[in-house]
Amino acid sequence: MANPVENKRVVLGVTGSIAAYKAADIASKLTQQGALVDVILTESACKFISPLSFQSVTGRKAYVDADLWGGEGHVTHIGLGHSADLMLIAPASANSMAKLAHGIGDNLLSVTALAAKCPLVIVPAMDAGMYDHTATQSNVNILKQRDALFIGPEEGHLASGLVGLGRMSEPAKILSAIRYVFGKTGPLQGKKFVVSAGPTREALDPVRFLSNLSTGLQGYAVAQAAVDMGSRVTLISGPTNLTAPYGVHLIPVTSAAEMTDAILKESSDAFALIMTAAVADFRPSIKATHKIKKGSEKLLLDLESTTDILKAVARQKTISGFPQKTVGFAAESQDLLKNAQSKLEDKKLDLIVANDISAPDSGFAVQTNQVTLLFANGKKETLPLQKKTAVAEAIINTLC
Ligand code: CTP
Repeated sequence: MANPVENKRVVLGVTGSIAAYKAADIASKLTQQGALVDVILTESACKFISPLSFQSVTGRKAYVDADLWGGEGHVTHIGLGHSADLMLIAPASANSMAKLAHGIGDNLLSVTALAAKCPLVIVPAMDAGMYDHTATQSNVNILKQRDALFIGPEEGHLASGLVGLGRMSEPAKILSAIRYVFGKTGPLQGKKFVVSAGPTREALDPVRFLSNLSTGLQGYAVAQAAVDMGSRVTLISGPTNLTAPYGVHLIPVTSAAEMTDAILKESSDAFALIMTAAVADFRPSIKATHKIKKGSEKLLLDLESTTDILKAVARQKTISGFPQKTVGFAAESQDLLKNAQSKLEDKKLDLIVANDISAPDSGFAVQTNQVTLLFANGKKETLPLQKKTAVAEAIINTLC
């Protein structure tokens, strides 16, 4: 399954806010992801941005109030509302949120919202004082009780010059949230997945650590693929520069010991654990309290083993039965399949993803990966070189 946004019909309502320009980017990105985007602008939105901007990026008509009374007459809003898989109001002004909360239908966008039966996502954008106002807050609560999903607003600089809560969320967050909404009803609905990702850092002193080249790309892609299929995802991540997909419960950790504790706790009621993290096998036996000084010519480090997390999980599973499925990765630079097979057995896994890290377009810090899946029942499947997102989907598909 690819991005669940593909082939979905999204009605994007754009209302009167200076943030309306960001809506063009959202319309463009949704279209690039394969959605059919019907934009409705309110009269005040048209003062900030033209319908033509939206038509240019969606390749479809952008609607304005004149269309309510125009050619297709009163059926326009029914057609738009009934065919929508999702209604997104971005930016949502205080005035438009008040109309949505109270069922007022005095323009094309508000009557379409009344006709629509699909999920509603609201992205507020207004001055901080307006968002905090009791009237707006009570409208927000009414809409939340009706299951509208709110994204933002965020803290930051506002058009008025004030700094406060009212900025519209960035398009990337909004797009990730839409993906989450569409994925929610997928085949893994309700199942808990724990995914580990990224490197660990083992402190030598207050400023230095031992780590590895993992960027977390493959693990974050696995978390996204699990969200796309409807599962509840807990992502236990070492330090990376990546943003967790919307809807994921992110537990940031630094050391192998912290990762061990978080994984044992979170996987104790999970359906699956997917262990993509590059966990340090050794850590300094002693963390120096103060910065180690140059001093002598040589410095010998004394290292001790960390816990093998998958082996600890296997022991936990023998007692409690959880996690029901365990997937490991084998990062190898030689004897790939032989080493992967022995890790599959030693760590009592259901599946191991064997990954040749010596190949230039596979492994750390690249967008692609070439892996072989080895299953506990002896089945073996070699996948082609492909994007890490596609590898992630293939792994999640084995658990459906
Ligand atoms: N792993 C783990 N705990 C560790 C080290 C690794 O659970 N302390 C997990 C990894 O997340 C991966 C699998 O075990 O899913 C295999 O990791 P890998 O680094 O390939 O192998 P190791 O078991 O560390 O063995 P070696 O480094 O000797 O190859």
